[in-house]
Amino acid sequence: MIHISATDRVFVLTGAGVSAESGIPTFRGAGGLWRNYRIEEVASPYAWQRDPRLVWEFYSMRRRAASAARPNPGHHALAKLEESLQDRFSLCTQNVDDLHEQAGSRRVVHMHGELFKSRCDRCRRAPFDDTETYEPPRDVPRCHCGGHIRPHICWFGEVPYDLDKIADALDQSTVFIAVGTSGLVEPAASFVARVRGRARTIYVGPEEPANNFAFSDCYWGKAGELLPQIFRCD
Ligand code: OAD
Repeated sequence: MIHISATDRVFVLTGAGVSAESGIPTFRGAGGLWRNYRIEEVASPYAWQRDPRLVWEFYSMRRRAASAARPNPGHHALAKLEESLQDRFSLCTQNVDDLHEQAGSRRVVHMHGELFKSRCDRCRRAPFDDTETYEPPRDVPRCHCGGHIRPHICWFGEVPYDLDKIADALDQSTVFIAVGTSGLVEPAASFVARVRGRARTIYVGPEEPANNFAFSDCYWGKAGELLPQIFRCD
């Protein structure tokens, strides 16, 4: 049981594992997306420069897969926890799907962007909602400024979003919980080291993450099975 007292502030970091039971593939491990695609060909500024059509093919495929997905009991448990804790709760996800929002989570920071948003690669126009797919023979969409419209995703080599906001929430937290993330991708992999010693650090997932040493408690199993039953709030 993860006991949450009336003064605790909880920071939750989720990774692809929390969406696995909703049918969205993870990145690493058996069946992972990076088994079939090369990161540098579909998820990097270099890829976008070299072959934007291929990049859009990849993200169009992911839009299609994610649009059919629905939240699982793990997403719902985190939304319920937020409902009890209100502003003593923050949720930072590396996931680009919208399953946390679909489950009712309100305070979600998408540090790696959002699959159903696009933005211009040239002008400062804000990211906008976009559920379209752009696959050949469709051309890469254009902005009114003449730039190209790209997925609102943080690619390898780019800086994740909202890092200041995340740092503030981490620094205030007394309980840090990582769910379904391999602990391999920075800067998210180091969040636990930032709070360790000051906050309780808990991992939830079926396998040891690469940064396992930094967690004080681990709950081994699937997010959709464990999360609905491990929180006890005062
Ligand atoms: P990974 O694919 O690296 O890791 C997924 C983790 O989920 C693994 O540790 C699995 O053990 C765990 N897992 C699998 N099924 C689970 C379940 N049912 N419940 C709980 N955990 C489960 O995914 P991430 O760590 O999220 O970035 O990857 C981090 C980033 O690397 C992603 O955001 C993405 C990727 O490349 C970008 O694309 C920028």
